[in-house]
Amino acid sequence: METVVSGIRSTGNLHLGNYYGAIQNFVKMQYEYNCYFFIADLHSLTTHPTPADLHGNIKQVLVEYLAAGIDPEKATIYIQSDVPEIFELYLYLNMNAYLGELERSTSFKDKVRANPENVNAGLLTYPVLMAADIIIHKATKVPVGKDQEQHLEMARTFGNRFNRLYNTEFFPEPYAFNFSENLVKIPGLDGKGKMGKSEGEGNAVYLSDSPEIIRKKVMRAVTDSGPTVENSEKPVEIQNLFDIIKVVSSADTYAHFDNLYNTCQIRYGDLKKQLAEDIIIATAPIRERINDIANDAPYLRQVARHGAIKARESASKTIREVREIIGFRSF
Ligand code: TYM
Repeated sequence: METVVSGIRSTGNLHLGNYYGAIQNFVKMQYEYNCYFFIADLHSLTTHPTPADLHGNIKQVLVEYLAAGIDPEKATIYIQSDVPEIFELYLYLNMNAYLGELERSTSFKDKVRANPENVNAGLLTYPVLMAADIIIHKATKVPVGKDQEQHLEMARTFGNRFNRLYNTEFFPEPYAFNFSENLVKIPGLDGKGKMGKSEGEGNAVYLSDSPEIIRKKVMRAVTDSGPTVENSEKPVEIQNLFDIIKVVSSADTYAHFDNLYNTCQIRYGDLKKQLAEDIIIATAPIRERINDIANDAPYLRQVARHGAIKARESASKTIREVREIIGFRSF
């Protein structure tokens, strides 16, 4: 059976982008593959969270994984920092990751632009840690959103380079995966780029948002004054709303509003009302479970412990073999 690995950074509550880009696939894949889904808490250290925030955010992602339907009996759910073998593989891979290629990574360049005062080595080698996460379980499929495609390419590069250096075929190549044809990119509500945790107030709809908040956020989404020429191209902020409708609403709803747009009869207020209600319906089953799971400390403890044991079983097998390949042998 093919092995699947994916993770989400513990930097706050999960949003619709995380759900449609990643988690929805996690839930489906757990029945068909050997799955490892983790909480990327080491990656979140690049922004220096306080210990209390770090712990709270890890818990939040764990709770939302479970609320979204990831079943700890089917998939291995674990916290990245519980598996020290990942730290070790990260170090080995770092010896063959080069400054030039790391500096060229789009997400590194974005982070440097956004936070020029915090360009740390962890940020630079972020893709190396991500490669370690994936190849530690020899995964071949990685369910992620469109924004992670370049990181997957780098993971293949580092795995292949290890193989070449030691003349082995130890690590298989991991590829980004989505059940639909293309990798998903959910835009934000601010009329600009993608939905994200650090894109500012009102950009993201969180899985834990109440129906009132969802309505408020969607009604405030950026729009224009409406089309004046039939069948004209949609401006970015309008296309963004249609992109969200495409994943959240029914095909009929999409066609209905698309037709109104093309005939210049669209009223954005109606479109937003419908979109808000469809988001509320889509997220209801998750939202309703979040509180109960969050209050069940023994269950969370048991899931995390059980996941760490299973993840370490797989990771320590890989590390034993990697040490042997590299030449760390006992006397
Ligand atoms: P992160 O935490 O930024 O995002 C987690 C997952 O959600 C997807 N995603 C989106 N998909 C579609 N539209 C959006 N607007 C959107 N925003 C986020 C991301 O593509 C991702 O799948 N580096 C990773 C975490 C990670 C990881 C790994 C993933 C660490 N190690 C190993 C896979 C395998 C990250 O920062 O994702």
